[in-house]
Amino acid sequence: MTILYDQQRSLFHLQAKDTSYVIHVTKEGYPAHLYWGKKIRGTQLDRLLELKERASFSPSTELDRLALSLDTLPQEYPGYGNSDFRMPAYQVMLADGTTVTDLRYVSHEILQGKPGLAGLPATYVESDDEAQTLELTLKDEWSGLTVILSYSVFEGFDAIARSVRLVNGGSGTLQLKRAFSMSLDMPNDQFELLQLSGAWTRERHVHKRKLVPGLQSVESRRGSSSHMQNPFVALLAEGATEDHGDVYGVNLVYSGNFTAGVEVDQFHTARLFIGINPFDFNWKLEPGEQFQTPEAVLVHSENGLGGMSRSFHDLYRARLIRGAFRDQTRPILVNNWEATYFNFNADKIEAIAKAGQELGIELFVLDDGWFGKRDNDTTSLGDWFVDRDKLPNGLEDLVSRVKRLDMQFGLWFEPEMISPVSELYKAHPDWCLHLEGRRRTQARHQLILDLSRKDVQDYIVQAVSDILSSAPITYVKWDMNRNMTEIGSALLPADRQRETAHRYMLGLYDVMERITSAFPHILFESCSGGGGRFDAGMLYYMPQTWTSDNTDAVSRLKIQYGTSIVYPVSSMGAHVSAVPNHQVGRITSLETRGNVALSGNFGYELDLTRFTDEEKETVKEQVALYKEVRHLVQFGDFYRLLSPFEGNDTAWMFVSKDKSEAFVVYVSVLQEPNPKLNRFRLKGLDAGLDYRMEGTDSTYGGDELMYAGLATPQFHGDYASRVYRFTAAK
Ligand code: DGJ
Repeated sequence: MTILYDQQRSLFHLQAKDTSYVIHVTKEGYPAHLYWGKKIRGTQLDRLLELKERASFSPSTELDRLALSLDTLPQEYPGYGNSDFRMPAYQVMLADGTTVTDLRYVSHEILQGKPGLAGLPATYVESDDEAQTLELTLKDEWSGLTVILSYSVFEGFDAIARSVRLVNGGSGTLQLKRAFSMSLDMPNDQFELLQLSGAWTRERHVHKRKLVPGLQSVESRRGSSSHMQNPFVALLAEGATEDHGDVYGVNLVYSGNFTAGVEVDQFHTARLFIGINPFDFNWKLEPGEQFQTPEAVLVHSENGLGGMSRSFHDLYRARLIRGAFRDQTRPILVNNWEATYFNFNADKIEAIAKAGQELGIELFVLDDGWFGKRDNDTTSLGDWFVDRDKLPNGLEDLVSRVKRLDMQFGLWFEPEMISPVSELYKAHPDWCLHLEGRRRTQARHQLILDLSRKDVQDYIVQAVSDILSSAPITYVKWDMNRNMTEIGSALLPADRQRETAHRYMLGLYDVMERITSAFPHILFESCSGGGGRFDAGMLYYMPQTWTSDNTDAVSRLKIQYGTSIVYPVSSMGAHVSAVPNHQVGRITSLETRGNVALSGNFGYELDLTRFTDEEKETVKEQVALYKEVRHLVQFGDFYRLLSPFEGNDTAWMFVSKDKSEAFVVYVSVLQEPNPKLNRFRLKGLDAGLDYRMEGTDSTYGGDELMYAGLATPQFHGDYASRVYRFTAAK
């Protein structure tokens, strides 16, 4: 890893592990984007800048260089209004009401290491020799607006982290209308755009489309990253597949409103961008103030989508996720939500925990309904004191009953919410997001606390901390069950109301930072009606996320497959639930439910006391198997073999870093009579090693498994599955 600076050519060549990224500052002072892709050597790369003279409809900024128009220059952080007509990366309104600025290079600095982003989640380094950072300072002389573009390259990862700081260096007030985290211009439009889109219980499905002229983008206006879209897009070069070809992915380390996309212009260049959604956004910058954008993580792979995913997984597992659990295998849990919903008491909970302990499960999680008067979802959010009707001897007593069984104890919270029917709302009706005089739109009978307020932030930290200090709790599920409406804050002046949504995120990040650092022994799992806030921002504070409220094994194939495009398997909660499945009504075998859930942070979410003896035996085997393979599932390399979006069968596998072990999961959705002969190829093994298939006498060459493949298993009945374990023969 290094950042090379060629002063004579005004060229910055950023080199990550196997990636190059080249920036050239034109003689007029515009940072031009020259290259992003497989690592190249660092000579004379300014010739990569190709300018062609265009018609006068692309105006030239320099009379002596007609070929130079900002409309055709491949740029790093483009503005609007002085000859680039494409999607700008930033827009600022000056005190005189105009919005034209012209950023030019002023200076740069190359730093060892990677500075943190004030108040925001970001990838990090543990020592300065792990990364280098380029800070390019640009300035609009007229207004004093100063923009610092930051690029970090990692020694150990094929990733570049970009972010931007906008400083009001002038004397008038500035209004930020847009401030993306990154923008760059690809030289052509021969790509497919991949996005992860869905809905509640159908999150992160893979969608691809060929680029066409114009704007194609995804965004959230919901106040969170959302079930509907994920803050991620990838460009797949023509012919790129799961395993081959150039893929360029960008992911925003942010949990609020975002936009991400591509604009293909009239010359078939493709502008790729990601950042906070400018829709309904405005940020007032007084002289001397600055605004920090979230971080965008850029990953290039020449080994297809799979290679890109593994780079994201490695980086996020090692240098986004923090804390004691980053490198620890995660416990197998049982959660009572789908077992009891709100209808439980201490005895019922103890019975489920006891059944879990007998099956080898390690952690019991008490979900919604333990506080206030919460017998259904109409009340009590905000009243974080124990419901003595359900738990007459309090939480401490329940926790010790569970601990006596040698099980850990986890607890559910929804700290960002307030029920209109609650003690908290009676005391503080202005603590929710709202607009004076307007209806306060409820969703699931609840409103959202205004986390832009310091008093609200402090209340949440105190209320959650009091409970966490009251008993030996080792896991927290942090839920959030609605999107934002009437976004406004009682404490902000009129000209800062449109800052509320981003201020909310900054408040949330502050609250999570304070709570997670005060309780470092607690494993935090975020959740938003399942996967409504499955993003890199949340993972910085909480190393795992409840992937989806849909626990059906067949639905989960697409959800977990899609999620794995960016996020590591160690970040995905996956549970076996009852049949008929509560979300889709499907009946699948316990074996298949187990095999799909084994491909994540494994757990159960049903009434374990109702299992038959035969089912108990199956569960014991699943639990024992997970304990043997979880280091692979959570920390191995993940390879997607067969896509649920392309056929009836899904397969994926996990390979240890030293390639001595592998775990393969194969699921077939519907059976066909008289099936054709078929094989599926494994990936990521050592071709020169022999592997023993556990539970059989067979040994296979790694080369045979990868090049000839395994015979597709033959099943009788729908929703069938099989897992395989391979160990390198000594
Ligand atoms: C939504 C979550 O995704 C569920 O797992 C459960 O915790 C409920 N909320 C509880 O209200």
